[in-house]
Amino acid sequence: MVLGNGLLVLFLCIFKTACALNASDHRGHEDYAQFLLANGVARTPPMGWNSWNHFQCGIDEWTVKSTADALVSTGLAALGFKYVNIDDCWAERNRDQMGNLRAKSSTFPSGIKALASYVHAKGLKLGIYSDAGYSTCSKTMPGSLGHEDQDARTFAAWGVDYLKYDNCYHDGSQPQQRFLRMSYALQRAKRPILYSICEWYTGFNTRWERRIRQNGLVSLATLGERRDIKDRWDSVTSIADINNIWGRFAGPGRWNDPDMLEVGNGGMTLEEYRSHFSIWAVMKAPLLIGCDIRSASRETLAILRNKEVIDVNQDPLGVQARKLRSKAGLEVWAGPLSRRRLVIVLWNRSRVGAPIMVGWREIGLSPSQAVLVRDVWKHSFVSKSMRFHLTALVAPHACKMVWPPKLRSCTHFVEINLEDDDKEDAVIDGPMGGSNGWLSSYCDALNKLIEAVSILAHLILSLTVSSFNIQAGIFLGSYLS
Ligand code: GLA
Repeated sequence: MVLGNGLLVLFLCIFKTACALNASDHRGHEDYAQFLLANGVARTPPMGWNSWNHFQCGIDEWTVKSTADALVSTGLAALGFKYVNIDDCWAERNRDQMGNLRAKSSTFPSGIKALASYVHAKGLKLGIYSDAGYSTCSKTMPGSLGHEDQDARTFAAWGVDYLKYDNCYHDGSQPQQRFLRMSYALQRAKRPILYSICEWYTGFNTRWERRIRQNGLVSLATLGERRDIKDRWDSVTSIADINNIWGRFAGPGRWNDPDMLEVGNGGMTLEEYRSHFSIWAVMKAPLLIGCDIRSASRETLAILRNKEVIDVNQDPLGVQARKLRSKAGLEVWAGPLSRRRLVIVLWNRSRVGAPIMVGWREIGLSPSQAVLVRDVWKHSFVSKSMRFHLTALVAPHACKMVWPPKLRSCTHFVEINLEDDDKEDAVIDGPMGGSNGWLSSYCDALNKLIEAVSILAHLILSLTVSSFNIQAGIFLGSYLS
């Protein structure tokens, strides 16, 4: 286990356009509209559960049903985790005499249609898995190559809501052709089925992907390396980096998919799982739980049920956060949210604690911009009026930042009413001197001094500690002017 891998994730919701995030990459908001799906699926990243990461081929209908029950009883379903997705190994090795896929009678004796009814009765949706080849990756069941229309009709008749379509054991033809064929078959089947393409980026080409995206989700599960996610820190960090490359292609109806979540499977620390969940959320990745929800610990559920993090993932603007910079494992990720807000992630991947700073200029704000910063893991505000930059100290327990009370008392006059711009101006230009007034200058100087002292204290503390676990701290914030 990697000691000291820490994440400090800071969410800033900033009421200003985030121009520094390379506006040209995001200019496609109008473009995104054209990809909005007529069938209404995947307008925000899909959320739910998938059987593969925890169970692999060891699944059956009881597991799926009791997982659906658990999604409801744990409150996860109410938070948006609606898809109950069966991965590989659900079918008989051979098709029936008519060439139809058949559920495996030893493990799914009631059949998929009955399972879909069970799941639907709980207000959930059912997902299934197939492959653009002759057999699926497990080699235990047929793929859909050459049977696209027949299988799409079968899935629709069973009441399936989501198809993950893999790329194993095909005929060597271009993935474009094979994946498009299923896309059209699903359209012809006339049921809104979210289409999750798992083609490992081998045929990545925006033109054909765009056509497919009109029909549903683009799932880029293994990102060109043909390596599935593992329940390990190095897997999470490397997949995040690869997924980052494709950030500008994401948008409503077309999400990059860095693979299913490993949160709760036991291979990482809680801090690392918080990092994993946070980074997936801001990358607008599908949030597909990959553990056994029925026996999930309180701590695991606390991560998965963090509504503030989920809300960032489900933000209607649908822009994938991107890495702005990285040095010695200290990273800044950011992306715009709706309502002129911005999300910033300060991520410490190194083995030692360190302060990470993000300047307002880097994220497209004027340095004097006052920013409300909120900790979305602690669900509390860090500052109501932060200016110039934000520095997060990631050290043994130091990420539980407490901003000096004096700082707050200096800046409390910049109260912002988010609904009422006039009032906001009135406050800023009020009798205390306004944002450029004497008190503001005094506060800025004081802020800098306090920050310098706290960074110094932190560094001294770091030097006295050889190794430690850093707790993940998440700060949520908001703001404006
Ligand atoms: C591939 C996929 C996995 C899973 C397995 C099933 O490896 O990338 O997510 O679906 O196939 O065999």
